[in-house]
Amino acid sequence: VEGERGYLLFSLATAVIGSLQFGYNTGVINAPEQKLRAFFNNTWMERYAEPIKPGTCTIVWSLSVAIFSVGGMVGSFSVGVMADRFGRKLSMFLVNILAVIGGLLMGFSTICSSYEMVIAGRLVIGLFCGLFTGLTPMYVGELSPTPLRGAFGTLHQLGVVIGILVAQIFGLESLLGSDKLWPLLLALTVIPAVLQCILLPFCPESPRFLLINQNKEEQARKALVRLRGTEDVSKDMQEMKEESSKMAMEKKVTILELFRTAAYRQPLLIAVMLHLSQQLSGINAVFYYSTGIFESAGVTQPIYATIGAGAVNTVFTVVSLFLVERVGRRTLHLVGLAGMAVSALLMTIALLLVDMSLITVIHIGAVFLFVAMFEMGPGPIPWFIVAELFSQGPRPAAIAVAGCCNWTANFLVGVSFPKLEELCGPYVFIIFMILLIFFFIFTFIKVPETKGKTFDEIAREFGGAPPPHTTSVEAPPTSSSVTLPASPIKEKV
Ligand code: GLC
Repeated sequence: VEGERGYLLFSLATAVIGSLQFGYNTGVINAPEQKLRAFFNNTWMERYAEPIKPGTCTIVWSLSVAIFSVGGMVGSFSVGVMADRFGRKLSMFLVNILAVIGGLLMGFSTICSSYEMVIAGRLVIGLFCGLFTGLTPMYVGELSPTPLRGAFGTLHQLGVVIGILVAQIFGLESLLGSDKLWPLLLALTVIPAVLQCILLPFCPESPRFLLINQNKEEQARKALVRLRGTEDVSKDMQEMKEESSKMAMEKKVTILELFRTAAYRQPLLIAVMLHLSQQLSGINAVFYYSTGIFESAGVTQPIYATIGAGAVNTVFTVVSLFLVERVGRRTLHLVGLAGMAVSALLMTIALLLVDMSLITVIHIGAVFLFVAMFEMGPGPIPWFIVAELFSQGPRPAAIAVAGCCNWTANFLVGVSFPKLEELCGPYVFIIFMILLIFFFIFTFIKVPETKGKTFDEIAREFGGAPPPHTTSVEAPPTSSSVTLPASPIKEKV
């Protein structure tokens, strides 16, 4: 019998504030570009009594944008160590300190006449967002009941897209994107951070972490009872215990061990490739540079087309949320990649025919379709599927590696797109089309369906829920009739 879900939803919503922050800080830097450049120039004038050179100004600007992803790479890579050491809940709490520091640095930059504070603030905010792109999916994945893990997992991406949309709207000149208010626009991230710190103490620690990592059975049971809204949590407890006993020696897997263990190789490859498919699809070419893209296609009010893209982005994430438990991850990811490839082709054709007036409409339509197809699968699925592909022991390390690949690819697309556009002109999206086709083929051949399966079942399909270490510990009996394949693990590369 299904119980009340109120407490579960409250806990998930609290964690998703972190996703919102990631989206907000991704989208927020787009609109105030000219204001920031003017500020850099003013500070320069104050200090050196001459205007900043255009080249120097562009360097400071690009640094402010890109250093966010560098912070993201470092932050996402550190997530495993942190989540295992402090637990999921305390980690989320602590990480918010970074948001407060980063937000204040950026918010007071004009008062202190220091563009260095903008750059430092963006770096700290990047660290913060990198950590949350691991922590939120991990916590959500571990709390969710199996049949709803994909739908709840999509909540992370829903938080991201709402964050982006809010940033786009707040960034309007008439709201916070003005000459005077832009520092506030950048500092606003402090508010959700404080809110999350107020709410987190009311959320439970992940029951899986309590039971499997810390052996706190009673506390795990209590947390589950509240989350499931029913006293009868024996099935969940049983499943976790089975997972726990099978990994007696592997409660924590380091990143090095992750790479060395044969049983993790296949799921790790899949996790990394799915994350690469997300970023190398070219989605952030749209989200970082849409205004310029729309302009070159002859759109007169590009800022509104950009907000339109943000709205389509949000709507289709909701569509995916409702489809993911019915259609499955694999199918949605394939549909999304294929749809994006077609849209990229359409976009290119529209740009080539830019002279005809109807074509502008087709171009906007193609960009919207590209974004919509992204959110069908490639947007939400990679973020939550890594938590599904690994059991408790290797999960944090796997999330760290996959997340770091995501941020690195994000950085590469972000810094190289303007140059690529210069080199390829209207053909630039053909590059992404080719990559999309490649990732479609990979997904088709390699990615299994994880819908409706327990973590343990998924690990076993890879031949690799780590078998008991018969050498050092007595193999604990498993309650059900499940027989484990005696797959070799810890076999060195
Ligand atoms: C995903 C990506 C992020 C992108 C966003 C767009 O969360 O990781 O880079 O900006 O989707 O919705």
